[in-house]
Amino acid sequence: MRQARDVIREESEVLHLTDKQIKEIMSRLHNDLVKGLGKDTHANSIVKCWITYIQDLPNGKERGKFLALDLGGTNFRVLIINLGANHFDMQSKIYAIPNHIMTGSGVALFDHIAECLANFMKEHDVYAERLALGFTFSFPLQQLGLTKGILQRWTKGFSCSGVVGEDVVQGLKDAIARRGDVQIDICAIQNDTTGTLMSCAWKNHNCKIGLIVGTGSNACYVEKTENCELFDGEPGKPDLLINTEWGAFGDDGALDFVRTEFDREVDNNSINKGKQIQEKMISGMYMGELVRLALVKLTKMGLLFGGRGSDLLFQRGSFYTKYVSEIESDKPGDFTSCMEVLEELGLSHASEADMAAVRHVCECVSRRAAHLVSAGIACLLNKMNEPRVTVGIDGSVYRFHPHFHTLMCEKIAQLVRPGIQFDPMLSEDGSGRGAALVAAVACRQSSTVA
Ligand code: BGC
Repeated sequence: MRQARDVIREESEVLHLTDKQIKEIMSRLHNDLVKGLGKDTHANSIVKCWITYIQDLPNGKERGKFLALDLGGTNFRVLIINLGANHFDMQSKIYAIPNHIMTGSGVALFDHIAECLANFMKEHDVYAERLALGFTFSFPLQQLGLTKGILQRWTKGFSCSGVVGEDVVQGLKDAIARRGDVQIDICAIQNDTTGTLMSCAWKNHNCKIGLIVGTGSNACYVEKTENCELFDGEPGKPDLLINTEWGAFGDDGALDFVRTEFDREVDNNSINKGKQIQEKMISGMYMGELVRLALVKLTKMGLLFGGRGSDLLFQRGSFYTKYVSEIESDKPGDFTSCMEVLEELGLSHASEADMAAVRHVCECVSRRAAHLVSAGIACLLNKMNEPRVTVGIDGSVYRFHPHFHTLMCEKIAQLVRPGIQFDPMLSEDGSGRGAALVAAVACRQSSTVA
């Protein structure tokens, strides 16, 4: 008779991507990237490849005091950054964005941001100064310039009304003007992937890809300006940063051939159904829930926990993505963290075989995520076709998952064309420092122009 363990392994096979499937994913993504860049194909493209208007990477000579805002990850932060020769000094504060603000009106969101900013300036004795600000806004933006960006869609649980289709920089400026107490020059708006790239490029000039595997998933890269058919900025510079917004990959069904019933359920229960399909298979906002859905299925089949679940196990959102990292941090054969997680979920009746199975499901979900990210990065590396590229990386999943880095490095190495090398580089707070750097580079340019 087949053992429960074997059936569990068979059931989890749907989460395994074969090399053939991964290659197919790469080829589909490549086509989508090309469509996003093309003048005639962009309007109907799924992976938008937004132009960022960032053409100059930092040269290490940026100096000065800057404010930065970071909205779109797990937290909202305000930062003040002093860039000096070969060092920077940074102070920041995290502010909560309560759920009613995440899903309320855009005006309320921007008023909240402006209020946090003013309070922060008071606390840091710069209330009366006129400072330059870089705004990291990590949602799909159609940029019309360095300080103009039209929100295309909300992602990651945000749904503030009246913002989609509007210029986000203007929204913030209006909120600051409504208060009338602080003087701010918004010098640049940017994505967290571009911030990550910029903050790594400050130290390593070879950094040409920025990757986020956090609450959401996305990457940006340096493209040849001549390939960016929609670019209407200053001519003459060879490179341009492209924000791929690859989290939307699959929104037209391109990933249906590998999606599972768990992916479909996560999507059905989300506030942006049918959107961000690749992101929902990868990122921290969804990974724990994917594991939970698989565990629920196995429990109902009588293969786990003696067929006896718990209220929490059956409750949506109760299996946090950090549990996946914790469970996989246990040494092989040790289930200390796994046991703690299962106890928290009211599953203290789990046997050792159950714990091994839970770990197996976590591994399948996170390995698939790492392989999907690898497919994306390898696709970009092959497209760029440079002998050696540094990839700046940030995000909670990449930082805290014990094996994500290794899984990714191994897979990318298999998928890139022979002769292409890559160096992963952990970003030091790309969203914060990167925002200041983009602002600093923008100031550097405007002062050169003046
Ligand atoms: C957003 C991207 C962002 C990514 C990582 C996605 O949901 O659309 O703009 O870069 O999350 O934060």
